[in-house]
Amino acid sequence: MSILDKHHRVETNATLLLILSFLVISIGGIVEIVPLFYLQNTIERVEGMRPYSPLELKGRAIYQREGCYVCHSQMIRPFRDEVERYGHYSLAAESMYDHPFQWGSKRTGPDLARIGGRYSNKWHVQHLTDPRSLVPESIMPSYKFLAKNKLYVSDIINHLETNQLLGVPYNQEMIENAFADIKAQADPSADTTGLLKRYPKAKTGDFDGNPTQLTEMDAIVAYLQMLGTLVDFSTLDLGQR
Ligand code: HEC
Repeated sequence: MSILDKHHRVETNATLLLILSFLVISIGGIVEIVPLFYLQNTIERVEGMRPYSPLELKGRAIYQREGCYVCHSQMIRPFRDEVERYGHYSLAAESMYDHPFQWGSKRTGPDLARIGGRYSNKWHVQHLTDPRSLVPESIMPSYKFLAKNKLYVSDIINHLETNQLLGVPYNQEMIENAFADIKAQADPSADTTGLLKRYPKAKTGDFDGNPTQLTEMDAIVAYLQMLGTLVDFSTLDLGQR
């Protein structure tokens, strides 16, 4: 039987074609999928990454609730125009503790992956209160009410525990100190030694301009101020690629 005849037989016999197609696809699948079960981790570990502090995690939840991701991405692509504008391109490790991640798919406003430390707390409060007072052509909505809303903290342990369930390495000490940490981070007179040991590089102090009250504005500004600040790119060696 010539090769053409064999081909003809396969092509005209639906069952045979199905079995052979399945076989070919299985091989492709096995080659791609099986190695994943033997990898410890598909994300390269990078020094400096840590879980969010309780206040940052709360701010992140408000960021999601308010739909900031609808207009803002948190993913700097490895292209020259992006890197020159926003800073070092995003690493997979930088969103390893994000559930869900905030990469986004639309940039009506600028990328926020490295917004931390770029402006003062006061700037953020003013901008969130009245964006057009700082950027006259801005189409960003006002989030003035965040400064009036007291931060709801009672569920913070559940937040940490749920993240722990999803693989974020919150330990017992972090969970036990969650209430103390959430208050200490936004209180300029608090002792923050324990907080900074648990969450290195956390920004502390009053965020919303009102030191007597813990508001949603405190939480969202604390979150914005830490974005992209954990990894020190001046000392990071990503190897030659
Ligand atoms: C309707 C789209 C839209 C939404 C929703 C939105 N923004 Fe914006 N944002 C913009 C635009 C446009 C700009 C650029 C102009 C400006 O600075 O106001 C901007 C700018 C910013 C900046 C300054 C970025 C920089 O590099 O200068 C920050 C910070 C920011 N937004 C945070 C937020 C947060 C936090 C939320 C949710 C509470 C949010 N935005 C919701 C459109 C939006």
